[in-house]
Amino acid sequence: MSQYKIVDCDDGSFSVFCAQADQAMHSRIGPMPEARKIYVSQAQFGRRLLDQTLIERPLVVYDVGLGIAANAIASIEECERIYTQAEDAQSCKVRNLEIHSFENDIEGLKLALNHLEQFPFLSAHETTLKKLLDKGSWNDESGRIHWELHTGDYFETQKLAPHPEIIFYDFYGPKKVPELWSEEAFRKIKIHLDHYADDLPTELFTYTAATPVRCAMKVAGFHVGYGIPTTAKRETTIASTDPKTLSQPLGRAWLDKLSYSTSIDDRMRKRIADLMLPYLAEVPGALADDTQASPS
Ligand SMILES: C[S@@+](CC[C@H](N)C(=O)[O-])C[C@H]1O[C@@H](n2cnc3c(N)ncnc32)[C@H](O)[C@@H]1O
Repeated sequence: MSQYKIVDCDDGSFSVFCAQADQAMHSRIGPMPEARKIYVSQAQFGRRLLDQTLIERPLVVYDVGLGIAANAIASIEECERIYTQAEDAQSCKVRNLEIHSFENDIEGLKLALNHLEQFPFLSAHETTLKKLLDKGSWNDESGRIHWELHTGDYFETQKLAPHPEIIFYDFYGPKKVPELWSEEAFRKIKIHLDHYADDLPTELFTYTAATPVRCAMKVAGFHVGYGIPTTAKRETTIASTDPKTLSQPLGRAWLDKLSYSTSIDDRMRKRIADLMLPYLAEVPGALADDTQASPS
């Protein structure tokens, strides 16, 4: 019997529930609103695709946890919109897009493809998705978009993909699969990114704001900041290889609240303090807007 079943969301759309993870793939706001809000809007595709200094290089996005492809499809639709706008305006050149999706179990997506009436956002991309599943990659007709699927464990297959500017990190929740949100997991990602040390910064977007996850990102070597809120989450998180890309880094208020957080131990508290205090002392004014902190 399949471990996947279709469940409903608050906006009348549907998600896929995984019995093994004991969790739906999306929050109750629904797959596409979540994809557009947490991932696509924060990734700023327009700014990146129109960057004339990078015009010869494709914009590489890692879609970690393909799931039912909501994040990937929302990204492709946003980029198609930007390509059309640029063509209509006959303006500047636009960069190509490369999406690398990672997934270790495609059964959830297959279930959704068999129930397209409940997943209308997949209908327009049915042929594309079938080609992706069948051949492992898909190119759009204009040659601007390349989409590749890496099947297997992300931490093994990430090395098959080129350097990313954007990572959408969208696994099941940290309470369900803590190993995918651990220091070790983020260290593996950081080591992979460090192979491209002279390259462009990488920003990792994720829905969780859990204190242990933010701590794990920090001790693994990422700079960490607040991501935008959604109707389901008061905060989300952005991790980056370059602090300059973060408009709202975690700062003094977040560190202060760590002192009474029950979700991390004293050893982690000290490691984070040792990392952050010298930086806070050096840049006293830079973190004045750090007012959202809410360690759990
Ligand atoms: C929350 S769902 C992703 C939802 C998806 N981003 C979307 O837009 O529909 C998490 C996905 O990660 C996959 N996954 C879990 N562990 C993985 C691993 N180690 N490597 C690759 N994929 C994994 C699961 O099978 C599941 O499809």
